[in-house]
Amino acid sequence: MSALPLGLRRVLVTGASSGIGHAVVAALLERGAQVVGVARRAELIDRRAVALACDLSDPAARKGLVERARTALGGLDGLVYAAGVVAHQLPGAIDEASLRAQLEVDLVAPLRLGEEALPLLDEGGAMVFVTSTLAERPIVTSAVYSAAKAGLTAVTRSFALAGAARGLRINDVSPGVIDTDMVRGRPAADLERLRRLHPLGRLGTAAEVAAAVLHLLAAPFTTGSTLRVDGGLLTRE
Ligand SMILES: NC(=O)c1ccc[n+]([C@@H]2O[C@H](COP(=O)([O-])OP(=O)(O)OC[C@H]3O[C@@H](n4cnc5c(N)ncnc54)[C@H](OP(=O)(O)O)[C@@H]3O)[C@@H](O)[C@H]2O)c1
Repeated sequence: MSALPLGLRRVLVTGASSGIGHAVVAALLERGAQVVGVARRAELIDRRAVALACDLSDPAARKGLVERARTALGGLDGLVYAAGVVAHQLPGAIDEASLRAQLEVDLVAPLRLGEEALPLLDEGGAMVFVTSTLAERPIVTSAVYSAAKAGLTAVTRSFALAGAARGLRINDVSPGVIDTDMVRGRPAADLERLRRLHPLGRLGTAAEVAAAVLHLLAAPFTTGSTLRVDGGLLTRE
């Protein structure tokens, strides 16, 4: 049996083609974990991982995903949900398609995958969901995304109770603004404003969030918690 702590041995990671999920896959592989990565752009997933192409917004496509990952790896003790989409829209201009897409990928899909994983993860395993500081502190354009991420924090805590009898630990990581495709491409002045929001004076990196995810996957006595990785953003007035 692997010397790695439970939660880090055989892990399913969504969002594996980019940003935080990609960094989680790399960090896990570096620790010696076996990994299944999930994304629509499966060709961008680290070649050392088993890649599964899946549109997580499609209920039929995502059903059975946890079982498929478990079969591919011969067992499963970790689930990381790092897929996500955001569409900033002002009230009055929130279009139905973006609203549905965000709720589906940011809330319903992680709920369904987590629900599927509760009986399938090896006893003592772990789940980590990636939420956002926008769950706790919405901005005027983030009503839908903030609602989805706040809902996902509630799911995390509910599932922590559900999984405790099997020794499962279920937590979420709440990043501030992280330098990934999700924020790149904004005007320089916008990025400078985002940097200044963080008392530490910069954006976070995907590797820094990945380190927090791995910490929680292995943390033996932490469940139902949110770990902020936000450069101090939420400590501001
Ligand atoms: N960057 C930030 O500032 C920040 C801050 C707080 C929280 N977060 C959260 O962190 C997580 C990772 O975001 P990121 O910054 O790494 O963004 P990213 O670089 O844009 O990556 C997003 C990932 O989600 C996957 N994804 C999106 N829609 C999908 C779908 N329908 N089906 C399957 N996969 C889908 C993408 O894969 P494909 O496109 O290949 O399918 C991609 O791998 C998200 O949950 C995000 O909400 C990000």
